[in-house]
Amino acid sequence: MTSVNDLRSSFTNYFTRNGHEAVASSPLVPRNDPTLMFTNAGMVQFKNTFTGIEKRPYSRATSAQKCVRAGGKHNDLDNVGFTARHHTFFEMLGNFSFGDYFKEEAIELAWTLLTKEWDLPKEKLMVTVYQDDDEAMALWKKIAGLGEDRIVRLGAKSNFWQMGDTGPCGPCSEIFYDHGEHVWGGPPGSPEEDGDRWIEIWNLVFMQYEQQGDGSRDSLPRPSIDTGMGIERIAAVMQGVHDNYDIDLFKSLIGAAASATGVDPKGEGNRSLRVIADHLRSMSFLIAEGVLPSNEGRGYVLRRIMRRAMRHATLLGASEPVIHKLVSTLVREMGQAYPELRSGEAMIAETVRLEEGRFLKTLGRGLQILADETKDMNEGAVLDGGSAFKLYDTYGFPLDLTQDALRLRGITVDQPGFDAAMAAQKAEARASWSGAGGAATDTVWFGLADKLGPTEFLGYETETAEAEIKALLKDGVEVAALAADEEGIVVVNQTPFYGESGGQVGDSGALHGDGLAADVQDTQKFHGVFAHMVKVSEGTLKVGQPITLVVDHTRRSSIRSNHSATHLLHEALRIVLGDHVAQKGSMVSPDRLRFDFVHTKPVTEQEMAEVEDIANAIVLQNTPVETRLMGVDEAKESGARALFGEKYGDEVRVVAMGEPTGNGLGWSVELCGGTHVRRTGDIGLVSIVAESAVGAGVRRIEALTGTAARHRGNTNVAIVNSAAGLLRSGGHEVLERIAALQEQLKRSEKALSDAKQKLAMGGGSEKTEGPEIINGIAFVGRVVEGLQPKDLRGLMDQTKKQVGSAVIAIVGVTDDGKAGLAVGVTEDLIGKASAVDLVRAGSAALGGQGGGGRPDMAQAGGPNGSKAEEALAAIRALL
Ligand code: SER
Repeated sequence: MTSVNDLRSSFTNYFTRNGHEAVASSPLVPRNDPTLMFTNAGMVQFKNTFTGIEKRPYSRATSAQKCVRAGGKHNDLDNVGFTARHHTFFEMLGNFSFGDYFKEEAIELAWTLLTKEWDLPKEKLMVTVYQDDDEAMALWKKIAGLGEDRIVRLGAKSNFWQMGDTGPCGPCSEIFYDHGEHVWGGPPGSPEEDGDRWIEIWNLVFMQYEQQGDGSRDSLPRPSIDTGMGIERIAAVMQGVHDNYDIDLFKSLIGAAASATGVDPKGEGNRSLRVIADHLRSMSFLIAEGVLPSNEGRGYVLRRIMRRAMRHATLLGASEPVIHKLVSTLVREMGQAYPELRSGEAMIAETVRLEEGRFLKTLGRGLQILADETKDMNEGAVLDGGSAFKLYDTYGFPLDLTQDALRLRGITVDQPGFDAAMAAQKAEARASWSGAGGAATDTVWFGLADKLGPTEFLGYETETAEAEIKALLKDGVEVAALAADEEGIVVVNQTPFYGESGGQVGDSGALHGDGLAADVQDTQKFHGVFAHMVKVSEGTLKVGQPITLVVDHTRRSSIRSNHSATHLLHEALRIVLGDHVAQKGSMVSPDRLRFDFVHTKPVTEQEMAEVEDIANAIVLQNTPVETRLMGVDEAKESGARALFGEKYGDEVRVVAMGEPTGNGLGWSVELCGGTHVRRTGDIGLVSIVAESAVGAGVRRIEALTGTAARHRGNTNVAIVNSAAGLLRSGGHEVLERIAALQEQLKRSEKALSDAKQKLAMGGGSEKTEGPEIINGIAFVGRVVEGLQPKDLRGLMDQTKKQVGSAVIAIVGVTDDGKAGLAVGVTEDLIGKASAVDLVRAGSAALGGQGGGGRPDMAQAGGPNGSKAEEALAAIRALL
C-alpha cells in the first residue's frame, strides 16, 4: 500500500527529478497576504513570485503545503463529516512554474506521473478544460490521447481558479478519477457530478492574470503554472478506497478517536469520528503555529473548529476531555513531515485540554437550553436568532455549532436574527463607552474599534506581514490619505508590530508597498486597535492599500530578551528576598529593563549577586519558553504570577520558562501578553546595574541583557585595565594599590602641613624672629602661603608658646587665593588688646565679613588673599 507519507515523497521526488526545487510548506497563517485568513493552496507562498514582485533563485518548484479551508473564500467547515472528501485541514501537493514551462509541459508532467510513475489506468481518468481553452483541449488529445468524450469544457465557476478576491488567477484544467460503478455519481458537468464516483484529483491552473481589488485583471509578466493535488484524495485512489476517511492516516486517527470514546469506528458514530479526526488536524497545526482559541479573527475560527469537534466527542458519549489524548497519534502519523507538530506536541495537547475543560463546563447547560427551545419543533422549523445569540454569548456556542446540532433534525437558524442580536449588543457596548465620557481621542479609537474590530496581532510568530490599510489618522482625525513627508497614524487589519502595553514599549520599523515607504516610529494600542505612528517617506498611503509591515528585528530581539529577563529576575527576587516581593511596575525597552517591587529595605550587594546568579542559571538551562492560553482563575490556581489589581480578560496568556521545580508549568510562570525569547538561552546574560528606592517600601532594579550586558562588562574591564596601567600593577592588585596610595597621600599631606607650619614660624628654625614693638606691645605678623584655615589655630597656639607675650596675627593664603586670618593675644596682654577687634580690622582688608572669637583668639576669612599685607597693616594701625 502506498501510504500518505510515501506519496508525499514520491510526488516531490518526481518533480525534483524534473528540475523542480523542493520548497518547504509555508505557515498556515500567511505572512505575505493581508486578505487571506489561512493558507488555502500551495500557490499562496508563491503569490508574489507569480506577479514578479519577488525573485527566487529557481523558476520551477514543488511542495507539499499544509492548507486550512475554514474561513474566507474557500470554506469547507460545514461539509466536514457529511462528505467523503471535504476537510478543514489538508495537504496540497503541487508543482509550479514561474514563467518557465506553461500548459504543454504541465500537462505532460502530470500525465506521466499519474499514468507512468503511479500506473493509474488511463480509462479511469477524465479531464475538464475551461470553455474557450482550445489549446488545452488540443494538448490533452495530443499528450494523453484522450478522445473528446473524455474532455469536458466547463465554465468559470469550476474552471477558473483564483486564490481570493485578489491575486494571481487563471483558467484551469482538472483531472478526475472514476472510483467505479459501485459508487453513486456522474462525470464532471453531468447532473450527478456531486456524487462521489468521479472525484477531482488534480487541478492544473494556467496562471495568466492578477485579479485586482477594483475588479480589473492585469496580465502576469509571464504565463505560469500552479497545480494542486489534495494528498488525501490521491491517497484514496492509490489505496483503492473511495473515501478519504478510509486512507491509512485517517484510519489511524479515527481508530484513536474510537478507542478514546469507546465506540465502534464503523458504527453509528462514524460521522462524529470523521469530524473529530479532521478537526484534530486543523486545530493541532494551527496551535503549533501559535494561533490560540479566542473570540476574534483566526483565533475564533480555531475555537469554532475545536468546539465543533468537542461537541461531536460528547455526541459519542464522552463526558471528560478526550480530544487532547489524540494529539500523540497525529504526531506519530505526521510529525516526521511536519516537525512543528513534534516540537509543539505538549503545548498542543495542553491547549486542547484546557479548551475542552472550558467548553465542557457550559456545553451541557447550553445543549439542554437548545433542547428545551426546540422540543416542539419539527423538520423545516427555524430557531429564532435571539436564542442562537444567547447560546453564543452565554454558553460559547459558535453559530455553526448550533446549526450543526440542529442539522440532523432538519431545523435551521434565523441568521439575520442572530446578526441583529449581535449588532444590538455591540451598539449597547458603544453606548456605554460614550457614557464613560472619555477624551475626544478616545472617542475616535472607540469608533475605530467598533467599526473595524481589534487589530489581529501576528507578532508572537512573525516580524513581517502583509496587511491592508483600514484607516489613517492625522492630528487625531480620520483622513483618506497620508502624503510623503506627512506624519500620522496607520491602522491595519493585522500586524506584527507590538502595541505598547504591560510595560513593554511599542515596536518600531518600517512599512512599504507599491511605490510606498514609511518609517514606523512607534506603536500604541487603543481598545484593541493598533496605532502605527508613521512618517511617510515615499508615495501616498491610502485606505484600502495592501502594505508590508516589517518590525525592526534587532530592536525587537533586545526587547524580547529584556522582557523574558524581567520574568526571571522577578522569580529570583522572590526566592532571595521572600514571597512579599510583588511586582509594582516594570518597563521593558530595547536598551534596559526596570522592575519595581515591594521590599522595605535596600537590596544588599550580596542579595543582588544571588538574584543575578539564579536568573543566569535559568538562562543557561536554555529551555523553550512556552505560552499557553488559560482561564484567569485556572492560571492563578496553577501559581502563575499576576499583577495584583490588574483587570484581565476571561482568558490570559501564561508564559512559562525554566525547568519546573515541582509539578508546575515552569520555573517562572506569569500572566503576560508580551513578546518573549524562544529559549531562555537567547537572553545570553542578565546583569543588574542599579538598585534604588522609588517610594515607600518599593525598590527598583535595573538590568541589562545580552549584548548590552556584555558591552557594559567590557567597558568596566577596560576601565580597570587602564587604571592598572596607570598604577603599573596587575588588574587584581588595583584595589590594594589604590588603598596604599591613599595611605601614602595622607602621610604626605600631614608632612607637608607640618613643614608649612614650621616655615611659618621662621623658615624651619625652632625659634621665630624677634617681634616688633608697637605702642609698647610686642607684635608678630606673618603671611603664610598655602596654609589652610583649619591649620591656623594649631599654628597660633604654637607661636604663642614660643613668643611668651605678644599680639600675633597670621594670614594664611590658600592655593586658590583666599585668605584665612587668626589673631591671638597672650594671657598677660588681655585687656590691653582685643583679638576680636583686631581680627575685624584685618578681615575688612581681606574683603571678609568680620569674623569673630574670644579676646585671646579670633578668626576671620576673606576672598582677597592678595591683600594679606594690608590686613596686617590694618592690625598694626589699630594697635
Ligand atoms: N491553486 C489551485 C487550487 O488550489 C491549484 O493548486 O486548486
